[in-house]
Amino acid sequence: MKGSMAKICKQIMSVFLVLMIVGVSSDDQQQSWWKWFSSGASSSVVSSVGSSVVLPLYGNVYPSGYYHVQFNIGQPPKPYFLDPDTGSDLTWLQCDAPCIQCTPAPHPLYQPTNDLVVCKDPICASLHPDNYRCDDPDQCDYEVEYADGGSSIGVLVNDLFPVNLTSGMRARPRLTIGCGYDQLPGIAYHPLDGVLGLGRGSSSIVAQLSSQGLVRNVVGHCFSRRGGGYLFFGDDIYDSSKVIWTPMSRDYLKHYTPGFAELILNGRSSGLKNLLVVFDSGSSYTYFNTQTYQTLLSFIKKDLHGKPLKEAVEDDTLPVCWRGKKPFKSIRDAKKYFKPLALSFGSGWKTKSQFEIQQESYLIISSKGSVCLGILNGTEVGLQNYNIIGDISMQEKLVIYDNEKQVIGWQPSNCDRPPKGDTFSM
Ligand SMILES: *[C@@H]1O[C@H](CO)[C@@H](O)[C@H](O)[C@H]1NC(C)=O
Ligand SMILES: *[C@@H]1O[C@H](CO)[C@@H](O)[C@H](O)[C@H]1NC(C)=O
Repeated sequence: MKGSMAKICKQIMSVFLVLMIVGVSSDDQQQSWWKWFSSGASSSVVSSVGSSVVLPLYGNVYPSGYYHVQFNIGQPPKPYFLDPDTGSDLTWLQCDAPCIQCTPAPHPLYQPTNDLVVCKDPICASLHPDNYRCDDPDQCDYEVEYADGGSSIGVLVNDLFPVNLTSGMRARPRLTIGCGYDQLPGIAYHPLDGVLGLGRGSSSIVAQLSSQGLVRNVVGHCFSRRGGGYLFFGDDIYDSSKVIWTPMSRDYLKHYTPGFAELILNGRSSGLKNLLVVFDSGSSYTYFNTQTYQTLLSFIKKDLHGKPLKEAVEDDTLPVCWRGKKPFKSIRDAKKYFKPLALSFGSGWKTKSQFEIQQESYLIISSKGSVCLGILNGTEVGLQNYNIIGDISMQEKLVIYDNEKQVIGWQPSNCDRPPKGDTFSM
C-alpha cells in the first residue's frame, strides 16, 4: 500500500477508490420500498424534464464495509453485484476471457460479447493518455489501479445494460464496459463482481446513459445508516431548490471535488483552510491528511478530557476506539461525548456551503461495544494531497453530482426510501 499514489500517477488511468477492510458479512435484505417504488413508477409519467433510473443499494459502512448495487447485464441479462464508485470512471466485470486471475465473486464470471470496442472509440481514448497507441486497432485494452492497491486489466466490450426509467419506460442501451480478466485485490478487497464507474469521465455509466439521451448526466446516492439506501441517475427525483450546491473545481477534473475546504470543529474554525476534498462513494470511511487528522484527533482528545471514556487499545476495529463504563449499544449512547464537525467550501466573496458531519457520520460502534473514529489517517494509506469524504460521512444525505451544471450538492435526507419521481416534478 505504501507509495501507491505514486504508482497510480504512472498508470494509464488515474482512479480513486479507497475502501477499508472491516469484515465481509453482508445483510442483503430486499428492501420493501423497492417493490413499492418500482411498481408505482410506471403509473406516474413525469414532466418533460426527463427521467431517472433509481436502484436500491445494499450493504453498510460497518460491519460490511461496503455498499453494492445489482445490475442485470447482457443478453439474456445476468445479475452482477457492483461497487458504486464516484471515484473512478470505468465499469468492469470479472470476466471469462478466459480469466487469468479473478477474485471470488457472488456470481459466475461475465461471458463477454464479441462486440469489441475499437481503439479509436472516444471511450477508449478517454481511458488512455493522448499519445497512446493500441497494440491492436480492433480492440481496446485497459488497466485501472485503485488507491487501495487493487487493480483490473482487461478489454473493453459493448453489451446490453437494461434499465427501468421512472417515466415507466424500459430501455436496453448498449454500453461500454470492461471485461476484466486479471484482477489483484487491494487492502480493501470486497467479494463483488465488479465496479460501477460513476466518475466525471466519458466512460462513466451515467455519462454513457446521458449520451444516449436516456437521463441527464447527473448521479446521486443516499446511504442509509440502517444499511441500504438508493442510487440514481438523472435529475428529476429531487427538488433542486432544497439542495446545497457548490461548484466542482475546474482545476481537478479527474475527481468530484469542489476544491478547498475549511475544517470546522464544533462550529468554530480549526484554522485549516486548504483541504482538497474529494467525494468518493468507493471509500467506506473518511480520510484526512496527517495535519488535518492530527488536528482533529487533538481536538477530540482534549474534548474527551474529564469524560468517562478511555482509549480502547485492545479494540482493533479501527485505529482509534474508546470504551465507556459499559459497552455502547448504539451511537445514541456515545454521541453526547463528541462534537459535530463540518467542511466549509468556498471563500472570499463567494457564498460558503457547509457540509455538516454529525457525530453519527464519523463514529461507529464496534462489535466490542466501543466507539471508534471513522475518520482515518490518509497519509498512512498513501493519500497525501487529497482528503476523502467517504460513505460514513455521506450517510442520511442525498449527495448529487451534476455533471451538466458542474456542481456537487447535498441535502439531509431519509435514505430508507427514495422520493417518488412525481413528488418533485414541476
Ligand atoms: C424492470 O421492471 C420490470 C417490471 O417490474 C422487472 O421485471 C425488470 O426486472 C426490471 N428491470 C430492471 C433492469 O430493473
Ligand atoms: C499519519 O500517518 C503518517 C504516515 O504513516 C504518520 O507519519 C503520522 O504520524 C500519522 N499521523 C497521526 C496523527 O497518527
